[in-house]
Amino acid sequence: MSRVAIVTGGTRGIGEAISLALQEMGYTVAANYGGNEEKAKAFTDKTGIATFKWDVGDHQACLDGCAAVAQALGPIDIVVNNAGITRDGVLAKMSFDDWNEVMRINLGGCFNMSKATFGGMRERGWGRIVNIGSINGQAGQYGQVNYAAAKSGIHGFTKALAQEGAKSGITVNAIAPGYIDTDMVAAVPAAVLEKIVAKIPVGRLGQASEIARGVAFFCSEEGGFVTGSTLSINGGQHMY
Ligand code: CAA
Repeated sequence: MSRVAIVTGGTRGIGEAISLALQEMGYTVAANYGGNEEKAKAFTDKTGIATFKWDVGDHQACLDGCAAVAQALGPIDIVVNNAGITRDGVLAKMSFDDWNEVMRINLGGCFNMSKATFGGMRERGWGRIVNIGSINGQAGQYGQVNYAAAKSGIHGFTKALAQEGAKSGITVNAIAPGYIDTDMVAAVPAAVLEKIVAKIPVGRLGQASEIARGVAFFCSEEGGFVTGSTLSINGGQHMY
């Protein structure tokens, strides 16, 4: 029986590319999504990958959602915590709600999904958790105290959980993407984005598939000696 992987936010953008890359590796993939039903349906029609709707920021919904995936597809060996949102704004204009939602979903989602799956991985002696951080969690970004804090938290979370999983065959790693050609980046005002792209040494935005390659490596059998690591895939924008 092939290993089962969950990709949160797995039907769009970087998550879609990750779902496809894991499917290509022979894994059985469950793509979680939070809201866009139409896109999720189109994704299943195109790929044959099953989709499951829940809010990763909701602790109980993650426990229930993972139980439903395990029931439908089998025990969960691989989790890719990719779901994330932005609520950009300078601190002076950022509401508590903008802060809280980003922490709840981006960082809380990693905790909730790991809580739901780590015990099973430990019992079976094998697991892969990959958390999608960000260049902006490493370097900070004007207008993103919420997002930068959550993503930076993800990098710390990764190194802590990696230590807990190591003796049980569970690796926990992170990818720190730079600016990737997705809806999230397209939402950055054009004039601002132009200045950001001008600072990327390779001279372009990244592609979602370029992030998915890194995730696929972390999730492979051969990746078993790599844990607590962060792979920066950012076109040289921040060499860290
Ligand atoms: N450094 C210094 N000053 C800056 C700055 C920067 N990076 N960006 C803007 N400013 C300055 C502006 O020059 C302006 O100054 P003046 O008032 O003196 O002209 C002032 O800050 C206000 O700027 P804006 O007009 O842009 O202010 P705003 O309130 O309309 O918007 C903002 C602020 C929402 C932060 C907007 O600048 C923005 O969207 N920035 C992009 C943030 C970003 O990169 N988000 C990444 C999203 S994608 C992602 O997060 C994925 C990933 O992991 C990489």
